[in-house]
Order: sequence, then structure tokens, then C-alpha cells
Amino acid sequence: MNPTDLSDHSSPVARCFALVPCAGSGSRAGTVAPKQYEQIAGQSMVMHTLAALKSVGRLEKIVLVLSPDDAHVWPDDAVAHIQRIHCGGATRAESVFNGLTQLLAEGAKNSEGVQSSDWILVHDAARCLITDLEINRLIDACLDDEVGGLLALPLPDTLKASVNGRVSETLPRQDKWLAQTPQMFRAGQLHAALNAKAAENFEGITDEASAMEMAGFAPKLVVGSPHNFKVTYPPDFALAEDLLRSRK
Ligand code: CTP
Ligand code: MG
Repeated sequence: MNPTDLSDHSSPVARCFALVPCAGSGSRAGTVAPKQYEQIAGQSMVMHTLAALKSVGRLEKIVLVLSPDDAHVWPDDAVAHIQRIHCGGATRAESVFNGLTQLLAEGAKNSEGVQSSDWILVHDAARCLITDLEINRLIDACLDDEVGGLLALPLPDTLKASVNGRVSETLPRQDKWLAQTPQMFRAGQLHAALNAKAAENFEGITDEASAMEMAGFAPKLVVGSPHNFKVTYPPDFALAEDLLRSRK
């Protein structure tokens, strides 16, 4: 793929779709069920994530990528307008790739579905503190951009490298950012960028931007919020709970 060839934007108006990878097991969280189904502030983590996405008026559709054997029972009304597809893979990148493959195949048969030129906002189910404000900030910043981009935070702390648990080096932090989601790219370009790494089991692809970077693109960095952290370790649940309750 030639990164400078941006001519494949055939549809006149690019629309925005959200794709939510929700097929992980949450091994670092230490929960019995996958962490996205843990109750936080009165509902499961993923329901908070979906509520934030639903409050953004300009998303055509929200699609959840679930594990093939996911038997979670969803509240009927809560997911009425959300497409659930059971094609999650062994890694986050594979889940996103499989989901995009299915959506683009559906779009090839139905013009209301995702077209190659449409924007896809990929957002972790486990980032349940995202707000409509940040999602809209990302969309505003990227809608007219040639590549797309991601929410991220300039690194606030001093950055250390380590060897055997001791500091080996202090690294410059001026140009360092912490990547968050959503990450917003053209569906066709993101699919091609992920496809290029599929044969290597998506080695080194920990977010959408890293796939785009390997394909030669330079994603735009859009300042996110420290509240938009990914619930990963056991103490993160209490922090997420406090923050969500404080918003009510
Ligand atoms: N995810 C996914 N498919 C996978 C792995 C992860 O869809 N095979 C999703 C998770 O459900 C989560 C998001 O990607 O919403 C971010 O991943 P992460 O926080 O790493 O979640 P897990 O992989 O579930 O957790 P862990 O790495 O601790 O096992
Ligand atoms: Mg993981």
C-alpha cells in the first residue's frame, strides 16, 4: 500500500462508525468473568463505555466485537441499537481486524454499511470513563485530516528505563505520549494496515495507530484526559467507580 495514495475515498460523505473490541479475558484484572462485565457504579463496565458512545450523536452505528464463546446476557433495551458480532480473536489486534473484515464485507453488499472511506473509531470496552466531549474532540480534530489520529496524553512523569529492577537510564519525555482510545482511521486503510501484519500474528501491534505507523502513516495526536484510563489492574476498578459516581 502506498501511504501517499489517499484517493480511494469514493463515498462523497465519510461517516463515522464505532468499533468496540470487547473480546478480552481481562487476565491482569483478576476477575472471575471478563473484566468488561464487572459491575462498576451500578452497571457493567462495558455499559458505561457504550453509554458514552451512544451520547455522541454523529456515530452511524456502534459495533461490539465479542468472543465467539461469549455467553453474556445483555439487558434488551441497552443494546437494542448496537450490533454485536462474535468474531473476537486471540489478540486485541486480531479482534479489531476480524470485526473490520466483517463490517467491510457487509458494507460491500449494503451501502448503509461501512465503506472503505468511512471513519472507524476503535474504542476499548475497558476504557469506561471516556466522555462524549473527548470523542467529539477527536472527531473534530480528525474529520478533515488525511490520516486520522488518536486520543493521547503527553507523558506527565519522568521516564525511566530499567535493567533488573534498577534504573539504567532516564529517557527524554518531551516527545512521549501515552496512547489512549478512541483511535480514528479510514476503515479501508486501517484494514489494509492490519492485514499487512496478520501473517505475523499482529506482532507489535498494540493499537490501531501502531499498525498505521508500520504502513507509513503518521497519526495525529489529540490530547485526551487522564480520566480515560484503561481499567487493567485490580485497583483500577475502585478508581473507576469513584469517578463514575462523582459524575452522577
Ligand atoms: N480485547 C479484545 N480481544 C482480545 C483482547 C482484548 O477484544 N483478544 C479487548 C478487551 O476486551 C479490551 C480491549 O481490547 O476492551 C483492551 O484490552 P486489554 O485492556 O488488554 O484487555 P484484556 O486483553 O481483556 O486484558 P489482559 O490483557 O489483562 O488480559
Ligand atoms: Mg490484553
